[in-house]
Amino acid sequence: MDIKYDASVVPYDHAKAVAQGCQTYEETTTLKQEAMALYKAARQFKRPKAEHKYHMVHHVYARIRSGEMLAKIEKAEGGRPRKTGSSTEPVLSTYADLNVDKKDAFIDQSLAKIPEAIFDDRVANTDEITIKKCMAWAKEFKQKADLNLDDCSLFQMDIQKYPALEAGSVDIIITDPPYPRPDLYETLAQCGQHVLKDGGSLLAMATQKILYEIHASMSKYLEYQWTIAYLTPGGQSAWMPHVEYNVNTFWKPVLWFVKGKYSGRHIGDVVKSAVNDNQKALHFWGQSVSGFLSLVDRFTTSGDMVLDPFLGGGTTAFCALKLGCKFQGFDIDEKYVFQTLEYLNQWGYKDDA
Ligand SMILES: C[S@@+](CC[C@H](N)C(=O)[O-])C[C@H]1O[C@@H](n2cnc3c(N)ncnc32)[C@H](O)[C@@H]1O
Repeated sequence: MDIKYDASVVPYDHAKAVAQGCQTYEETTTLKQEAMALYKAARQFKRPKAEHKYHMVHHVYARIRSGEMLAKIEKAEGGRPRKTGSSTEPVLSTYADLNVDKKDAFIDQSLAKIPEAIFDDRVANTDEITIKKCMAWAKEFKQKADLNLDDCSLFQMDIQKYPALEAGSVDIIITDPPYPRPDLYETLAQCGQHVLKDGGSLLAMATQKILYEIHASMSKYLEYQWTIAYLTPGGQSAWMPHVEYNVNTFWKPVLWFVKGKYSGRHIGDVVKSAVNDNQKALHFWGQSVSGFLSLVDRFTTSGDMVLDPFLGGGTTAFCALKLGCKFQGFDIDEKYVFQTLEYLNQWGYKDDA
């Protein structure tokens, strides 16, 4: 197997091809071991970070190939591989025959279940690949494998066209507008006044610097209710006015407005995302799935209609659907609408009935 470091090839394409070329479980094991040895050597000899990644990517793709093979063994009758011994059917080996380490098998099969396009995308866009990181992705995707897309509507639109939306049809707007555009927050509030049901909430993520400006403009159309502190451990603010003001920021305000009077349940006003968890694979400004799951969960009940008029990479869409809500979302940029559609289709389904 040729996995000598070569900076001129795109490591993930090459690594995937090498791994997919393995025909037996033993070959995947050899590839895994070789790549891991080279990865360790690259670290020991303080080689460039790109070289570490090159070897680790070979290792994880070999794990995926191994996971695909092991899944077939597990699926055999009675939880044991079927041994036919006939001359036409290959004899499947058992875990014992193959000397499979159970922990390794668990990791390999978990990685093999991550949707391929998403895994490729993340590998390409992540500077440092580790097994721990890949396992965190696997856990995330395992949780996602059940989105009902029947009540999900995505389209391209400028928020200025909000009167086209059905009046009084939305339970809650949860969104993350472009921070450098305070004017859009005012339009957002107008949109909220139009589409929200009476008593419906609008949650708008913001940045501290423009808080008073957007508070004043949004209050013209909706009742200000509260500000939620959205904690971003590790420091995740994407727009950087805090740098100019000598501030290290570890939270973002989420402004909460209501159409009329709020009469829902009591809400805790601190939400926390996991450390450095932002969903950057599909959108430069992508928010954290863990943080948004917690935010959406706090404010919705299954079946609610959630709207995000600044869809971006679809974090709100995913979280709302995951929590059993209906979802409408749009973005001025068609590219993000298609990306979100693709993203959701990876683990969504539609009821044919
Ligand atoms: C901060 S991003 C949203 C990121 C998203 N929350 C995520 O997690 O991926 C803001 C989005 O608003 C969109 N946008 C900007 N102006 C808009 C407008 N006038 N109408 C609708 N969408 C707009 C941008 O294209 C961008 O995708």
